[in-house]
Amino acid sequence: MLFPIKINSLKYYKNFSKNEFFSEENSYNYIIPFLLKKIKILNFFKTSSQHRHLQTQNYIINNLNLKDKIILDCGVSDASSSIYLINKKLNILKHYYLTDNFINIKFKISKKSILLFYNNEPILYFNKYLLIFIADIKNFFLKSIIKYKINYNFDNYKKFYDYVFWYKIEKKFSNNKNITFLKYDIFTPWKHNNVDIIIIGNVLNKSYFSDKKIIESLKNLNKNLNNNGYLIIIDNIGKSDQENSSIFKKYGNYYSHCVDIKNGTRIKKLIYKTFKIYPKNFIS
Ligand SMILES: C[S@@+](CC[C@H](N)C(=O)[O-])C[C@H]1O[C@@H](n2cnc3c(N)ncnc32)[C@H](O)[C@@H]1O
Repeated sequence: MLFPIKINSLKYYKNFSKNEFFSEENSYNYIIPFLLKKIKILNFFKTSSQHRHLQTQNYIINNLNLKDKIILDCGVSDASSSIYLINKKLNILKHYYLTDNFINIKFKISKKSILLFYNNEPILYFNKYLLIFIADIKNFFLKSIIKYKINYNFDNYKKFYDYVFWYKIEKKFSNNKNITFLKYDIFTPWKHNNVDIIIIGNVLNKSYFSDKKIIESLKNLNKNLNNNGYLIIIDNIGKSDQENSSIFKKYGNYYSHCVDIKNGTRIKKLIYKTFKIYPKNFIS
């Protein structure tokens, strides 16, 4: 149980006077993006960061024909790891779908603290000194007491603010029709155009899903992918967040294994179990 955590260095705090810090604007711009790195929703970490997929993205940029292609990026969290590719190539792509299944985040603010909700259930409390992962507290009574105490502080602040999950990036690309922000669950049918590239980073993880569920999602994603399209699976591993990924190309009912970055994805065996695979570089 991650409870409580002391905030050692909240760099943004220093730039504001006490009364300014917990404001709606600062929540959108600084506090929630900061908290997103820490939170877990229904057991899924929202962790993401710029450049954690750099080698894979450079491989995509330098080796795949991206002209008029459609990319489906799954489980992007706040999209910070996707932004590099988007900035470089959105102008030549036909479309980029940024998706995640858990986006329904709201918050309440008081003068000294902020409370985050997922589906109206409080999940995290934050003030200058403490982060309390309410969602992680297993003991029912302890959780009820903490929820009561915390809510008490927010009595005068009944208003919920919708957290626009992709606030910054949506603002940046608000006039660009080539990018769409969507709630999408990788286990459900995809209702939009079939796509040419599927990127799925740090979602198909054995600590999140059983092998059976991973195979189910691979089969499901395969239905969304055009022939000659690419399936790209990325795992960032360990304290150094080292990037490991595998890129596969679809040929009818087969996939060809194009390349591994570092050791490749940890679910490679499951991919081989799910699809018929040509040997590495069998087809160029
Ligand atoms: C660790 S983050 C990965 C963020 C980003 N792709 C990266 O690699 O930096 C995992 C994300 O997967 C999302 N996720 C979990 N289950 C999902 C599902 N069934 N469908 C789509 N996204 C899901 C979570 O909401 C979370 O944002």
